Amino acid sequence: MKAYYHARAREYDDWWVGRNLYADRHRPGWDEEREQLEAWIAGLPPKRTLDVACGTGFMTQHLRGEVTGLDQSAAMLEVAREQVPDATFVQGDALDLPFEDSEFQRLFTSYFYCHLEEPDRDRFLAEARRVADELVIVGSHAQAGEELHRWETRRLRDGSEWQVYKRVFVPDELAAEIGGRVLHASRYFVMVVAP
Ligand SMILES: C[S@@+](CC[C@H](N)C(=O)[O-])C[C@H]1O[C@@H](n2cnc3c(N)ncnc32)[C@H](O)[C@@H]1O
Repeated sequence: MKAYYHARAREYDDWWVGRNLYADRHRPGWDEEREQLEAWIAGLPPKRTLDVACGTGFMTQHLRGEVTGLDQSAAMLEVAREQVPDATFVQGDALDLPFEDSEFQRLFTSYFYCHLEEPDRDRFLAEARRVADELVIVGSHAQAGEELHRWETRRLRDGSEWQVYKRVFVPDELAAEIGGRVLHASRYFVMVVAP
């Protein structure tokens, strides 16, 4: 997962905006729903926020308040620093966060929790609760009949193939899993919050 996303850094946002390899995907209403999700993120009350596994900063740029982004990949962080010059970016491991207890008011994470298998999932949740008062998770809303967790074969523009573990979520179930509530759910996206 780490190596795949590092290699994908310069083409990662293509997925969000439907370009290049993702240009032919049939995702009716995707752009409108992505913009709605961005508006929900921008509507979160401004707080001292840590965006874990921030990637290229595509969602980081919508967070308000004092924002720090963390990612394991230097290539991702290079893009993030270009896209979100006002935020602070740190290279580090989401499962061993280089921060003090309660250093943040909110820990935000988009499309990272969905890639964690046990026991990393529990490790991440423990770290999130240690460093922040509130946890916000964004991921994919499960489509009808879709397998909720699976290994996927992903391809990059250079033709390389990678195996990636991925979950998609039923909003109420994700909220219950982290002891929280659903903040926003649309056809493609879900965002939950837990104290
Ligand atoms: C699917 S991308 C999500 C990027 C961004 N949050 C977004 O929603 O566009 C997953 C990100 O997790 C990062 N990552 C994977 N494992 C990590 C770890 N153990 N610690 C920190 N970042 C990690 C990858 O480098 C990648 O940027």
